Amino acid sequence: MFGKFITFEGGEGTGKSTQLKLLAEYLSSQGIEVITTKEPGGTEVGQELRKLLVCGDKDKFDATAEALLYFADRRIHLTQKVWPALEQGKWVLSDRFADSTVAYQYYGYNKKLSKETLENLYKIAVGDFRPDLTFILDIDPKIGLARSFAKAEGMTVKETRFESRQLEFHENMRRGFLEIAADEPKRCVVLNADKNIEDLHQDIIKELKERLDIK
Ligand code: TMP
Repeated sequence: MFGKFITFEGGEGTGKSTQLKLLAEYLSSQGIEVITTKEPGGTEVGQELRKLLVCGDKDKFDATAEALLYFADRRIHLTQKVWPALEQGKWVLSDRFADSTVAYQYYGYNKKLSKETLENLYKIAVGDFRPDLTFILDIDPKIGLARSFAKAEGMTVKETRFESRQLEFHENMRRGFLEIAADEPKRCVVLNADKNIEDLHQDIIKELKERLDIK
């Protein structure tokens, strides 16, 4: 028996991590075995890649180099953690997956690398595997970025490489997520993330029950 793979996507400061944790608690309370994870950095090696990717100067690599590093992290994440857990029947909730690469490295950078390159990288690193369900948490980037910078204030290692990009990058990336959802409406559900935590959690449970046929 295989578990389900559910991903959470969206821009900065949408509250993905909080919602992922709440959903994991809900699923456990329903007797479902679940693990939570994230990209980049869902594995020990991935943590090293995460540091390279999210810290430091925003122009230290171009979109192609970034996409390659995100797919390397993804491949390690899938083979070491996600696939083994699914094979054991566990459900896996991931804070970001491949839609983030399309939204950030393709749409965010104004399509500087081709969609075909990304599709080829996906085939090499991931094959035919797809999430069973993807929640795209949508928020005006001005609100999301303010939340994200407020959170970074208290951190010793500042993970603000992407936050420090121009608003235009974030607006392109938001449009990208909405286009991904429009192309794959069966897999993706877009939710308004500009609401309180509990209401958003209830929206997520409602969609999950409708789409994955659980009680
Ligand atoms: P996080 O802050 O949500 O953990 O994500 C780390 C950063 O990495 C965030 O700014 C989004 C970015 N990112 C990409 O640009 N491409 C990707 O494929 C992934 C997974 C994340």
